[in-house]
Amino acid sequence: MSEGEEALVKSSLCVYLIPAIIAFLYFVLSDQKKGKVKKEEVVKNLGKQLISDNPEMRGEEVIDKEQELDAGVKTYEPYFAEDTPHVALNHVRYTEEEMLQRSRDFYLEINKRRSCRMMSTDAVPRSVMENILLAGGTSPSGAHTEPWLFCLVGNQEIKEQIRDIVEQEELVNYNSRMGDQWVNDLKFVKTDWKKEYLSEAPWLILVFKQTYGLLEDGGRRNFYYNEISTCISAGLLLAAIQMAGLVTLTSTPMNAGPALRKLLNRPPREKLMLLLPCGYPAKDATVPGITRKPLEEISAVYE
Ligand SMILES: Cc1cc2nc3c(=O)[nH]c(=O)nc-3n(C[C@H](O)[C@H](O)[C@H](O)COP(=O)(O)O)c2cc1C
Repeated sequence: MSEGEEALVKSSLCVYLIPAIIAFLYFVLSDQKKGKVKKEEVVKNLGKQLISDNPEMRGEEVIDKEQELDAGVKTYEPYFAEDTPHVALNHVRYTEEEMLQRSRDFYLEINKRRSCRMMSTDAVPRSVMENILLAGGTSPSGAHTEPWLFCLVGNQEIKEQIRDIVEQEELVNYNSRMGDQWVNDLKFVKTDWKKEYLSEAPWLILVFKQTYGLLEDGGRRNFYYNEISTCISAGLLLAAIQMAGLVTLTSTPMNAGPALRKLLNRPPREKLMLLLPCGYPAKDATVPGITRKPLEEISAVYE
């Protein structure tokens, strides 16, 4: 190649090839960026779609279609016989002053209940926890079906597995599944996807509702109002925890229910409602400084 030809090749490299490489890199990189944005949007929209598709997340009651079809189709002998004897009601009648005092005392105690997210690792006797569960089990229930199941977990390894499952879901909840409104509404609580209290609290109570019962022949027994009955039992658990001098956090492990159910070997007819870490508060535990609605706002009296 002559010197003139060499110079021509070099100058064409500068004029055509280098700009072509720059243009190529620009398109590749900008396309990747677009792809990334699209992917994030897809994940976010997917999250929104999951919320709108999932009636439980919208706060609506989920009716088990199979259970609904089952109800009224099969008949079975009632669990309690028609001739179940009625016994005297065990009731103590207090004076008006005593009632006033007792109702006030209970209110003052239960008004101290706060959701605690900073738990001590100090041990709590299992017998105390069992009394708390017994109190939860005194709840009324539709046709006395007692459709609750309380899993009491004190085993450290299982608590850590529970924490792992919940944190994995919460990471998605906070980052993409739930919308900005949800994240903003929760900011005052100062929570994030990390749930240390699940491995630090000495006990976890997992409150399951049983959507139906099993008959001896393997058929289904209707559990009427299983959700509301279980929620009432959970309220009693919270009160019993407070009365025992312990603390808890009412938590709803969003989307982690099926995995936790499987971890604890519970059957599909049981659905997780609440996860209550239970124990003493950590030293220097803090809670959001919120107030409660006054009586006028939570009641309407017709005398
Ligand atoms: C049904 C229900 C679900 C809740 N879920 C959570 C939860 O998943 N995580 C959490 O930190 N707090 C949860 N809370 C606790 C509330 O944030 C808390 O009750 C509220 O802020 C009032 O505070 P207090 O319980 O201290 O009175 C839940 C409460 C209820 C009743």
